Amino acid sequence: MIRLQPYQSSGLAGVIRWYDTVGSTNDVLKALAESGGDEGTVVIADVQTAGRGRQGRRWISERGSGLFLSVLLRPQIPVKKLGHVTLVSAIVAVEAIAHFLNADGTDPRGRVDIKWPNDVWIDEKKIAGILVETGLVVERVKWAVVGIGVNLTSGSLPSELTGQAIAMSDVTSAPVNRDAFAMDLLQRFGVWYGKAAESRFDEIRNRWCELSSFAAGRLIEIETGEGTLRGTTRGLDPDGGLLVRLDSGEERAVFVGEVLRVVPSPRNQPE
Ligand code: BTN
Repeated sequence: MIRLQPYQSSGLAGVIRWYDTVGSTNDVLKALAESGGDEGTVVIADVQTAGRGRQGRRWISERGSGLFLSVLLRPQIPVKKLGHVTLVSAIVAVEAIAHFLNADGTDPRGRVDIKWPNDVWIDEKKIAGILVETGLVVERVKWAVVGIGVNLTSGSLPSELTGQAIAMSDVTSAPVNRDAFAMDLLQRFGVWYGKAAESRFDEIRNRWCELSSFAAGRLIEIETGEGTLRGTTRGLDPDGGLLVRLDSGEERAVFVGEVLRVVPSPRNQPE
């Protein structure tokens, strides 16, 4: 480890453990979680040799290319409310990215988008991904590790990701300082995690829906693990599932899945 740095935000505080190289920041933090690590502990690494994404995918994590950060939470919530933590993580990532793209912290063209459940997109290319992993004891959450990866520079993105991935350096000429970006993101995380801890779900849902073009009215195909569904999005249910009205007229809440295909949103069309 390189250094330890305390931090404090409104709803979360702890120590940041800065590393040069780790396998995966999520794995480092999961081990700490199991050995009694405190809520709010953060791990940030310059390089991950085994960075992981959702559904067993790799997360390429080369030096200087991005932020690789994980936060340890011990939320006092039932397992079925864990989706709130996922929504909060996406909100925080979008807000931090928008803030660094625009000096005034706004995103007037609505370029930064959340692809359900928590991929962050710019111009329909992925700029950030979130991997939430949990340890559970009988219907309660013992710990949750939220891993956030943000592409800061595009130089080291592999050619197979051309057209699918984008980095902050592709959209702003102002260099983004990783450490300042991480501190900003943690401040926002504390604010929104505080709302989740206080069960202020309506605020979380409204904000997520404001930030995601997937929230309502999009025709999608979604792989749920129990088959592919096709239908139109209708917002979020109280536990954070995506409501989809199927072509048959039935409405379903989907909690785990992958959006396979979307009909292009007018919001993301070139001007
Ligand atoms: C995804 O979109 O598939 C999720 C990507 C999550 C990547 C981050 S980088 C920090 C943390 N450590 C990991 O190994 N993965 C997450």
